Amino acid sequence: MSDTEISHPLFAAVYDPLVPEERLFAPHREYLAAGLTGPVLDLGAGTGASFPHLRGTDLHAIEPDPHMRRRAARRARELGIDVEIRADRAEALTYDDDTFDAVLAGIVFCTVDDPELALSEVARVLRPGGEFRFLEHVRDDGWRARLQRAIDPIWTKTAGGCHLTRDTAATFVGHDAFDVIEIERVEAGITPVRPFVRGRLRRRA
Ligand SMILES: C[S@@+](CC[C@H](N)C(=O)[O-])C[C@H]1O[C@@H](n2cnc3c(N)ncnc32)[C@H](O)[C@@H]1O
Repeated sequence: MSDTEISHPLFAAVYDPLVPEERLFAPHREYLAAGLTGPVLDLGAGTGASFPHLRGTDLHAIEPDPHMRRRAARRARELGIDVEIRADRAEALTYDDDTFDAVLAGIVFCTVDDPELALSEVARVLRPGGEFRFLEHVRDDGWRARLQRAIDPIWTKTAGGCHLTRDTAATFVGHDAFDVIEIERVEAGITPVRPFVRGRLRRRA
């Protein structure tokens, strides 16, 4: 994992204005939050776009970019939600083993430095039987995949470290700490940020 500070002030400033939250993401955030009431960790919370959907949970969040973290804290204040936002990276969580009923990732595994390590950390902080729920964009097929590969180096520099080419579903399904409850491809987004996968994994006992 890189030690370089994660700091993307411009990306943080344009994130909410540019992301089609209501049209694209809101229904999926409802999916991620459905039925949760206990301790929940929002991984890479960004500007806190999931917070409105997580009222009524015992909400915790991590966000390593200070520019994103400040916006997430402001959103929590405006919503009247009590949430501690730690500066952790997903690869090195400062929570005890078996802490959470659920860990949520919305468009985060495209950006973390080490997806395998981050997923192992998710497994560690989930209680046995707890759920990892995610919505992630992944690499496409055919010409779209070739385009994603071609522009990935520039995209990564301009989009806060985001990669277009990851096969995140395979990483998730292949991890031996989890059983797959469900996983589906979502034909949403616009090339090069499409398709998405969303799903739920259960931490094995
Ligand atoms: C595309 S944004 C998504 C934000 C939010 N989850 C959402 O759904 O809108 C990705 C976020 O992951 C954060 N991030 C980058 N590297 C990370 C890491 N190693 N661990 C946790 N979060 C990270 C970024 O700072 C950014 O806020």
